[in-house]
Amino acid sequence: MALKDSYTLPAAADMHVHLRNAPGAIASLVTPTIRSAGVDTVFVMPNLAPRPVVSVAEALEYKKALQQLDGQVNYLMSLYLHESVTPDVIREAKKAGIAGVKAYPRGATTNSQWGVVSFEPFHEVLQAMEEEGVVLNLHGEVPSSSADGVTVMNAEERFLPVLQGLVAKYPRLKIVLEHCTSADAVKAVTALGENVVATITAHHLSLLVDDWSANVHHYCKPSAKSPEDRRALLNAVVTSNGKFFLGTDSAPHDITSKKGKGNTAAGVFTQPHALGYVLTALEEAIARGDIADSSVTEDVLKGFFSEYGRQFYGVPLATKQIRLTRGGARVEESLKGEGVEVVPFRAGEETWGVEWL
Ligand code: DOR
Ligand code: ZN
Repeated sequence: MALKDSYTLPAAADMHVHLRNAPGAIASLVTPTIRSAGVDTVFVMPNLAPRPVVSVAEALEYKKALQQLDGQVNYLMSLYLHESVTPDVIREAKKAGIAGVKAYPRGATTNSQWGVVSFEPFHEVLQAMEEEGVVLNLHGEVPSSSADGVTVMNAEERFLPVLQGLVAKYPRLKIVLEHCTSADAVKAVTALGENVVATITAHHLSLLVDDWSANVHHYCKPSAKSPEDRRALLNAVVTSNGKFFLGTDSAPHDITSKKGKGNTAAGVFTQPHALGYVLTALEEAIARGDIADSSVTEDVLKGFFSEYGRQFYGVPLATKQIRLTRGGARVEESLKGEGVEVVPFRAGEETWGVEWL
């Protein structure tokens, strides 16, 4: 067996999660699974509907509601980049401890209808973020357009010049290319300075285009791509050195939004077993020969799961430890709450158990 049967590691930080509206049925269902997954810190995405989180007051209110669901998690809050976010809002956000501002290209994903068409009108806002050290979190896709030859398969690649343009214009701005999915994105981020990093999800280390084309629970944005792309992500994890860290993009949707009459909602729900999914993906990658078994060291896991993300955001390192044990848990068939049902990734499969030490 390629990996050990058990790992003792610092508590993890998941730097990209969707917890949905709080109070709310999905938030009540998924927020308690953060700590049971071995995670003590999460970066919370602001793409709520019918209204995204666009003010400091809304972000703080949202944080308070999440704390009512689990007061022991450190919630790093974010704002949704929108015309109501001004340089003054950025300065207020910095004082209030808001960790980042998420930019959604309009039309690229769930609840992006209030998102960015161009970064030009946000010049002063981006300058203020650069000055204050507020992170810009990028959903790195351009919207699909048959006129421009853009589909979900090349939407991320087409976004990379936008990323490079932002870096050239705001060289000190801290940027996270969220949930990168392609070899091109890994290469682009690797070539940029240390203020530019990327998150990698658990499911993109496992899935390919064939998987989501056959299963709505595997469909997300950006969508999973080719074997070469997946191999690049796996190699980015084991050679990260701080450039790539865990951001699961765990995105719970009620089963009716996944399987209803309309288009399926984008999002893979991975919160309850985030770390186990990564270990399984690494093990499968070793079996395929995508990575060497010697490359998965405890330092690699410690950095990717826990330390690199905290270091980037300036969050203190974890004080508690967790133990992950092979075969110690089974993924639920579904999680049911008040009038909602969410199907997790790899439902019904055996996975790694988590204990807090
Ligand atoms: O698959 C996704 N789901 N990608 C996103 O960018 C948003 C997320 C969601 O909010 O469901
Ligand atoms: Zn997301």
